[in-house]
Amino acid sequence: MFYITTAIDYPNGKPHIGHAYEKVLADVLTRYQRFKGLDAYYLNGVDQHGQKMVKTAEAEGVNVATVAKRNTKGFIKLWEKLDVKYDGWAETTDDQHKACVQAILTDLKDKGALYKKSYAGHYSVRQEQFLTDRDRNEAGEFGPEWGEVMEIEEENWYFKLSEHAEWLKATVESDDLKIIPEFRKTEVLNAAERAGETDLCISRPKDRLSWGIPLPFDPDFVTYVWFDALINYISFAGYKKPEGSTLPDFDTLWPADLQIIGKDILVPAHAIYWPCMLHAMGFEAGEMPTLLVHGFWNIRGDKMSKSLGNIVDPDELADKFGAETLRYYLCRDIRLGKDSDFDIERLVMLFNTELANDLGNLLNRSINMTKGFCNSTISSTATDDPEDIALRENLEKTTAAYRAAMDNCDLSEALQAINNHVTHCNGYLERHKPWEMKKDESKLPRVGEVLSHTAESCAHLALLLRPFLPAATEKIFGQLKKETLIDTKLDDLKWGLLEAGHQTGKPKPVFPRIQVEEKE
Ligand code: MSP
Repeated sequence: MFYITTAIDYPNGKPHIGHAYEKVLADVLTRYQRFKGLDAYYLNGVDQHGQKMVKTAEAEGVNVATVAKRNTKGFIKLWEKLDVKYDGWAETTDDQHKACVQAILTDLKDKGALYKKSYAGHYSVRQEQFLTDRDRNEAGEFGPEWGEVMEIEEENWYFKLSEHAEWLKATVESDDLKIIPEFRKTEVLNAAERAGETDLCISRPKDRLSWGIPLPFDPDFVTYVWFDALINYISFAGYKKPEGSTLPDFDTLWPADLQIIGKDILVPAHAIYWPCMLHAMGFEAGEMPTLLVHGFWNIRGDKMSKSLGNIVDPDELADKFGAETLRYYLCRDIRLGKDSDFDIERLVMLFNTELANDLGNLLNRSINMTKGFCNSTISSTATDDPEDIALRENLEKTTAAYRAAMDNCDLSEALQAINNHVTHCNGYLERHKPWEMKKDESKLPRVGEVLSHTAESCAHLALLLRPFLPAATEKIFGQLKKETLIDTKLDDLKWGLLEAGHQTGKPKPVFPRIQVEEKE
């Protein structure tokens, strides 16, 4: 089973465009695995514990459990609206998750992997972690990214992270802990170098923070939010599940084939703490997840933040432009692992040119002219005209490039491969001008062949686009009157999906142009 997970989001407000991007990315890749004929399982969820949630609740004057529940609903509603489909849903306040975290803690303590000590130092409330001198900036201060920094002295429980440092380095070097894209590996290796220097504080005293999972062996403490949250990837995959539980079978899922996260939580959480935690639990190098690390959506070069008031709301955008328009933009306008600027003008421009104009027209012209000039009937496409051969070859190249890009999780590259064939087909139509040819009756058979080549291409393109735009693909197959083909697998994408004699349907714009309001 191909197992995909995403970071679990803090429901301490409404989901923003960064959250939406990650989930759409996961949804597209999950659908792609199914298109390849694999069984896939996507686990999505929310991270409901920790100080961030408490702060939000305090600011609102509401009980923290109530805030977590209410905001979680907002996330679930957005995933529905964006057609993000998942097979499992992780909520860290769930009893089975709590029991799993506690069982792991007990095991680790029994193995001698945990110890208690007193520590005095600086603590960042925002990042919920102790800081070291390494975290100071060039001026020797803790920068604004740490928020409020307090000096505290307290007893806590520690995980012997440092014991795994050598193993971790070797595991990253050998790609047993695989990191996509490759350029992120250096950052992880540098951090792994330092993993031997400190252990990880995995508890918070209850009198400072009570909103968390109690340590099973020391009730004055709750579990550090990251230690709890990271475990969701296995607890909701059925690790140590109780008898009769409906959670999945752990052995069929683990290790995760793709754990999708943003670059900000690669180091130390996912690339240092998580593999060392797994190793301490008894997982070997070959049982580590693959990390897919995406970049950030920024706003005109700035980070999106509440304080800058530049948060982009995916819910509003989906209402205004349609969920699939947003899905398309999120996949199209960011390169694998890199940052990108979120730009509504580009969203509109890319939709209007690539979907409304290029693909939309290709589809519309193909079906419309097949109806008008060929009685809605597909002709044979087993032709030997050099232009036809070139078109068929281009489609083959497109499909191969799409597959390579998707296997590499590079969605933008895959969409560009699709667009390349759209452009090829539109050029082919322009050169043949079936609307002129049909005036000469003797050329009607050729008109049929030409339009059948572009209609056949539309069927292929719609299937390649299906992981991105499932609703549009359904509409296209409706107009081609080939609904039965919608579940065709990537390996079965052979020329001839539309057989000679097949009757296509009525054209109707699938991608109506977005009308841009004139600026005053
Ligand atoms: N709760 C932790 C993750 C725990 S995983 C065991 C967390 N939550 S978060 O809500 O702050 O972020 C959730 C995901 O959204 C992270 O992968 C993060 O990188 C991603 N993004 C947050 N802002 C983003 C952008 N501006 N752009 C793209 N993704 C961004 O961290």
